[in-house]
Amino acid sequence: MLLLKDIQKSFIEPDGKTLPILGIEEFCVARGEQMVLVGRSGSGKTTLLHVIAGISRPDQGVVEIAGRDITQLSEAGRDRFRAEKIGYVFQTFNLLPAFSALENVLLGMTFTRKAANVARARELLDRVGLGQRLTHRPAALSVGEQQRVAVARALANKPQILLADEPTANIDTGNQQQIVDLIRETCREEEVALVMVTHTPEVCSQFDRVDELAEINRVAKRAK
Ligand SMILES: Nc1ncnc2c1ncn2[C@@H]1O[C@H](COP(=O)(O)OP(=O)(O)OP(=O)(O)O)[C@@H](O)[C@H]1O
Ligand SMILES: [Mg+2]
Repeated sequence: MLLLKDIQKSFIEPDGKTLPILGIEEFCVARGEQMVLVGRSGSGKTTLLHVIAGISRPDQGVVEIAGRDITQLSEAGRDRFRAEKIGYVFQTFNLLPAFSALENVLLGMTFTRKAANVARARELLDRVGLGQRLTHRPAALSVGEQQRVAVARALANKPQILLADEPTANIDTGNQQQIVDLIRETCREEEVALVMVTHTPEVCSQFDRVDELAEINRVAKRAK
């Protein structure tokens, strides 16, 4: 389902120096597989998710999703591919402030060729406990509620892979389990592969597969 091969990713620092972040020989996630990615702050977890999602391009290497190497696509092509095949829960939510909770979920659908499905958007918002907040804009939602909208939006399109960057970080412990359950159940029902970044040990312990980024990343191994 997801295959990374010989990935290198670095950033250029303001002084022009190259800052290597990722050096990954191979990383695979099977169809419908659910796994967690852990690692210290600044180790490159978000950078890796961005590379998988085609938000940023690796310096070299292959990012194959559903049989397609997305590094060969143009930026617009990657945007279209992401809208159709990839769900992303951003660490910082990225909700559109001018739109209501329901509209934010529906907007995720309008970037694809499929017609927006209001019933599914409402159902997902209901499942994250926001059935009574459909018309609230992000500014009128609590931080945890915004994060729940972001989860609903990421699942709206029935993606093939869901990338979730600390989706429970801003949610109180009582509701964290509900979000994790929603993500996992929806992924299971629809055979969506799941890559979730989390720092929460209780969440990690529920997964059969937990990858430590430093173990698969040559750059981090060198820095150790
Ligand atoms: N655009 C950029 N230009 C230069 N350096 C960057 C850029 N984006 C990220 N970095 C650096 O890359 C490293 C990895 O960042 P990343 O956001 O992937 O970390 P992370 O593992 O997600 O951390 P956290 O757990 O705090 O979210 C950091 O040291 C960061 O400073
Ligand atoms: Mg991060």
